[in-house]
Amino acid sequence: MTPWMRKIHKWIGLAVGLQLVLWMCSGVVMSLLDVKAVKGVEYKAPAPSKRPWPADAIPLSPVLAAAQVPAQNVSTAWLLDQPVYRLRGEKATQLVNARTGQPFDLDAGLARKLASASYRGPGVAGKAELVEPSLETRAHEGKVWRVPFSDGEDTTIYLSLQGDVLEHRNNTWRLFDVFWMLHIMDYTGRQDFNNALVVSAAVGGFWLALSGVWLLFTSFSLAEFIPKRWRGTRSLLVHAPDGSRLRSLRGHAGDSVFVALAQQGLQLPSNCGGGQSCGLCEVRVRGGAPAATSADRALLSPSRIEAGCRLACNL
Ligand code: FES
Repeated sequence: MTPWMRKIHKWIGLAVGLQLVLWMCSGVVMSLLDVKAVKGVEYKAPAPSKRPWPADAIPLSPVLAAAQVPAQNVSTAWLLDQPVYRLRGEKATQLVNARTGQPFDLDAGLARKLASASYRGPGVAGKAELVEPSLETRAHEGKVWRVPFSDGEDTTIYLSLQGDVLEHRNNTWRLFDVFWMLHIMDYTGRQDFNNALVVSAAVGGFWLALSGVWLLFTSFSLAEFIPKRWRGTRSLLVHAPDGSRLRSLRGHAGDSVFVALAQQGLQLPSNCGGGQSCGLCEVRVRGGAPAATSADRALLSPSRIEAGCRLACNL
């Protein structure tokens, strides 16, 4: 099981490791960006002070009686100098001129003026457009008014169809938003940080930690906790493939054959440094070979195992 565990550990480690790098890099970038610049505070005009409701406003009852949609909720607002009633129905909200009782249309001209009133930067307002929802207005539903400004930050102000300023977006926010997307791994909506990818990465990271602990313990042998001078030795005879004896050497008990040979200057091929996962350190045991381990079975063919071949790093 260990070789498979190492292999899975390696590949999950790569995937989770890449995401960890993205988490850290995006976190660093987001923390370095000035939060006031991200929010566009510099070009945001202070909220207008509350104005008293005009004395010449008509009462609400005739407005409700003439409403085009049954109102579930009523509120009042000033759209610049225009007092309005907002009649919120089940599906739509109707604006009514609070002085005349007539339906009130929030057109592109007024949207542009409302956006300009909430802006105090050096740019000039462009044309107001009614647009579909986008990533820049993802916290809001339905169509919105979009008003671009000609400043260095490409400020764009979004308003609701009822005239509320919804968002001030700018290039710093857009940069922040890309790193936010990488950080929360929500590559479509950019607001769900409980999405399947994040959960998978978290589970993968947890599994990585547990399997790492397991692999840590399996990579130690009891003999490694005993100083070499207190351990016994064992002799090894090294033969060439034709059976002729090449060398005789001694290794410390507890060291693998791979380590014992390396300490005597005989370095077997390896891609895993004796980690029982590459299968390159194969040797054939003369006489009675020990029972094959799971690592032997995972990396050597049955015929090689039958012939007495084993992994030197596992002997
Ligand atoms: S399996 Fe790689 S060195 Fe033994």
